Amino acid sequence: MKILGIESSCDETGLAILDFSDPRKAVVVGEVLASQVALHEQYGGVVPELASREHLRNLPLLFDELCAATGLGLRDIDGIGVTCGPGLKGCLLIGVTFAQGLQKSSGLPLLPVNHVEGHILSGELHDPTLKPPYLALVVSGGHTELQLVEGLGSYTCLCRTRDDAAGEAFDKSANLLNLGYPGGAKLAEAADTAGPTKLYTLPRVAREMSDFSFSGLKTAVLMLVRKCAQELSSNPAALGALSWAIQDAIVDTLVHKTRREVLGRALPLVVCGGVSANQELRRRLSAELPRVVFPPMQHCVDNGAMIAYVAGRYMRAGVRAPRPDIFSRWPVESLQDFYGVHNEAR
Ligand code: KG4
Ligand code: ZN
Repeated sequence: MKILGIESSCDETGLAILDFSDPRKAVVVGEVLASQVALHEQYGGVVPELASREHLRNLPLLFDELCAATGLGLRDIDGIGVTCGPGLKGCLLIGVTFAQGLQKSSGLPLLPVNHVEGHILSGELHDPTLKPPYLALVVSGGHTELQLVEGLGSYTCLCRTRDDAAGEAFDKSANLLNLGYPGGAKLAEAADTAGPTKLYTLPRVAREMSDFSFSGLKTAVLMLVRKCAQELSSNPAALGALSWAIQDAIVDTLVHKTRREVLGRALPLVVCGGVSANQELRRRLSAELPRVVFPPMQHCVDNGAMIAYVAGRYMRAGVRAPRPDIFSRWPVESLQDFYGVHNEAR
């Protein structure tokens, strides 16, 4: 069984073909990705309308590129998975419409995929020995949540952000420091270059609260930037030290709450979503927890392989989903109802 996955929920257009013929593991036959970093850089963030138009331009080109690279075409594919949410509505609409076009011309089954479930299951795609139950820390530009994974489509949220996502905290802080776009990676680079320093300290907002919260940190960074404006503009070491303090505050909060839940339940942990590319987060979680699975870097950011993987898992379990719609919000806890997944499908 070969499955095509299509991802276009934000600023990356990703397509991939996965082979499910080996029941023990899925194999990535080919994958292509078009990043829109250069397009949005000049605006300091993602411009939704421009992102949609770029997906529209990229999708047919990437599909041809994927077919040429793998030597496969629609006739060799057994099903299609497409991201239907959560994400930017215009971007989702382009991906879903493209997938429906392929479906109409081929008669293949089309399965709507939840983007966050894609990130979570990228742990199982990467490490087929990982089986539920386990915990998943989803840390991206739009999401920060710790999920208990008990099977395909079976999620219980243990903790999520009340306001900003961890990636947003990285991005908005990077903006305040004029580090450019994409902020998270640039701030992490400045922090890692500076290394640990105690020049600045920032509060661990809501450290003991059950949920995550990052909007207070953003305010604290703003106050500090205003107070130290002179120093920050004249001394590059000060900018590095503040980047370190911001990264340390975000990572420390994530690690503290995740560690408590993971050790209390004695379960493995998957860390996924764009912020899971952060080296300091990886280093600390690996040092403090017994079994942590990080997808490879190309599958930490948005990609088509994770979408094909989720679609293949449901199709292999015999799930036929309803007609794709688009959802700007779509919590993974609602997936069991959405797919009508029962025990035999896990
Ligand atoms: O999963 P993703 O590619 O897209 C969303 O679904 O949001 O995550 C993007 C987020 C952005 O906020 C970006 O700044 C952050 O991941 N990010 C990082 C790093 N690389 C990407 N944050 C911290 N350190 C990094 N190295
Ligand atoms: Zn994502």
